[in-house]
Amino acid sequence: MPSPTPAPPEATWGPSARAPHRDGDGIAGLFDRAAVTYDRVGVDLLPAAGRLLVEHARIAPGEHVLDAGCGAGASLLPAARTVGPRGAVTGIDLSPVMIARVQQHCAEQRQDWVRTHVADVEGPLHPLPGRPADGYDAVTAGMLLTFLRDPGRVFLGFRSALRPGGRLAVSWWGEEAPGWARVVEATRPFGSGTREEIETAVPGQNAPPTPDLVRDLAHRAGFPSVELHEERLETTFRDSDHWWEWTWSTAARAFWESVPRERLPAARAAAESALAALRAPDGTLPYVLTTHFAVCHRW
Ligand SMILES: C[S@@+](CC[C@H](N)C(=O)[O-])C[C@H]1O[C@@H](n2cnc3c(N)ncnc32)[C@H](O)[C@@H]1O
Repeated sequence: MPSPTPAPPEATWGPSARAPHRDGDGIAGLFDRAAVTYDRVGVDLLPAAGRLLVEHARIAPGEHVLDAGCGAGASLLPAARTVGPRGAVTGIDLSPVMIARVQQHCAEQRQDWVRTHVADVEGPLHPLPGRPADGYDAVTAGMLLTFLRDPGRVFLGFRSALRPGGRLAVSWWGEEAPGWARVVEATRPFGSGTREEIETAVPGQNAPPTPDLVRDLAHRAGFPSVELHEERLETTFRDSDHWWEWTWSTAARAFWESVPRERLPAARAAAESALAALRAPDGTLPYVLTTHFAVCHRW
């Protein structure tokens, strides 16, 4: 569940003071558990954001792309279709289960121009096998920013992985439609964690940045030109069960996992009563999420 809180109070967006990997297996474990249903519950938000990221990055046939934090392939798969067999896509992710999903899909599609690695973008990024000598044409990183300990260092690493003239394209969630903050408010008392962790629904996650903060971050990492885009992505949950299934399929499951098991029914009931106010006359739950994109040009 993305945060309704749009920006951290600081003027810059840098290393987070979070306790890393509080739950033992940390982000990799969280996404391993989410991966089974991740973007498989009939909600098109992540795939739509992935397709838009590839469009905004202007990925072209024959290009070599690194997709960082590729997850189940929301941006990797459209990038692979776009570059085609004359190009190449390398996907990296901390979660072995996410990587296995991408590998299985690409094997079924016979996309042998896709390589994947279980790797940490906060570690040294090269040499990854298959990296072109002068660097990638583009690096994409969809919905990764808020999980990084030190986004400034990661942006520097992305810059050095790009060829001169290459692009870094990143995306991140913004605000939910009015009213949805009440669902977070209603369930907040049932979870544990620091205020920021609960607001962002993910232990260890940073609050989402503003577009200006991402532009500053890119400038400081040596990207002189940054394009910003904003889109409103819409979906409809069939009912509250569908919403419940979706929220567990995302990183927001970290919040629900922090609720003591015996309190989970009460937490869900609190969410259900907040959801009642958001229900359309036909019983469905319309949902809108602002989505941000930044395309950073290396000269
Ligand atoms: C919200 S998901 C986004 C996945 C995909 N890019 C998408 O748009 O659906 C974030 C992904 O980043 C991965 N991730 C988080 N921190 C990472 C790191 N330091 N290195 C590599 N992958 C990381 C997670 O395992 C997860 O698969």
